[in-house]
Amino acid sequence: MRNKIVAGNWKMNCSFDEAEMLVDEILDRLEEQEELECEVIVCPPFPYLEMLTDMEFEEQQFNVGAQNCSAYEKGAYTGEVSAKMLRSLDVDYCIVGHSERRKYFGETNEVLAEKINRLIENNMSPIYCVGEVLEEREANRHFEVVKEQLEKGLFHLDRDAINDVVIAYEPVWAIGTGKTATPDQAQEMHAFIRSLVKEHYGDAVADEIRILYGGSCNAKNATELFSQPDVDGGLIGGASLKAEDFVSICVQASQIKEKE
Ligand code: PGA
Repeated sequence: MRNKIVAGNWKMNCSFDEAEMLVDEILDRLEEQEELECEVIVCPPFPYLEMLTDMEFEEQQFNVGAQNCSAYEKGAYTGEVSAKMLRSLDVDYCIVGHSERRKYFGETNEVLAEKINRLIENNMSPIYCVGEVLEEREANRHFEVVKEQLEKGLFHLDRDAINDVVIAYEPVWAIGTGKTATPDQAQEMHAFIRSLVKEHYGDAVADEIRILYGGSCNAKNATELFSQPDVDGGLIGGASLKAEDFVSICVQASQIKEKE
């Protein structure tokens, strides 16, 4: 059985005070829940990571993630933040290859493969994002594009390392647009991704690996998306900035597991 994951990607939002208020409210609301059966990850901007990793929280399944890391190990790379630095703050996860990084910062699959290597070397779990833009879907190239992102960015890892990776399918046309993929569209792509993992790493790895959906996932559509057999939770942008909505999404993920 794959435990569901709900990861919040705050992107470049919140002042320090706002971040503190938001995480306090998230944790208060999570604590009100009895036995949440899903893993919750919050990915704030770099300057707030330590505030979050320092927080005491009884719930074992609350983790902190970064939104990016350097492809380099260390040294004269002004402005960069290394995987090792993140690890030293007890950060467990890091988003890699978000479409905004690919688009605005020119990150290629090859650079992303290096970032993933740095994270694995430092015992962190990459949340590797893949997904097609609208024109690619309209041209029926979405499977091909996602396959290439996986083959060039991720599938160089060996069998041991891949076990630490979470994949997030985020159709770019659905991110921040309010236009969610239908549950069928999500399931179709997730099943395809799992079949590729199976081809490269075999049944056991494919059965275990978590594949999250991202792109206008919110408190209203989470249950129907997460109920799909190959959707193991979500990577949540906009709705992760509202504690009530974010925790509602976590609860919905958790209830699906209980039903199974
Ligand atoms: P969204 O963003 O939920 O605001 O669409 C998702 C993401 O970018 O990870």
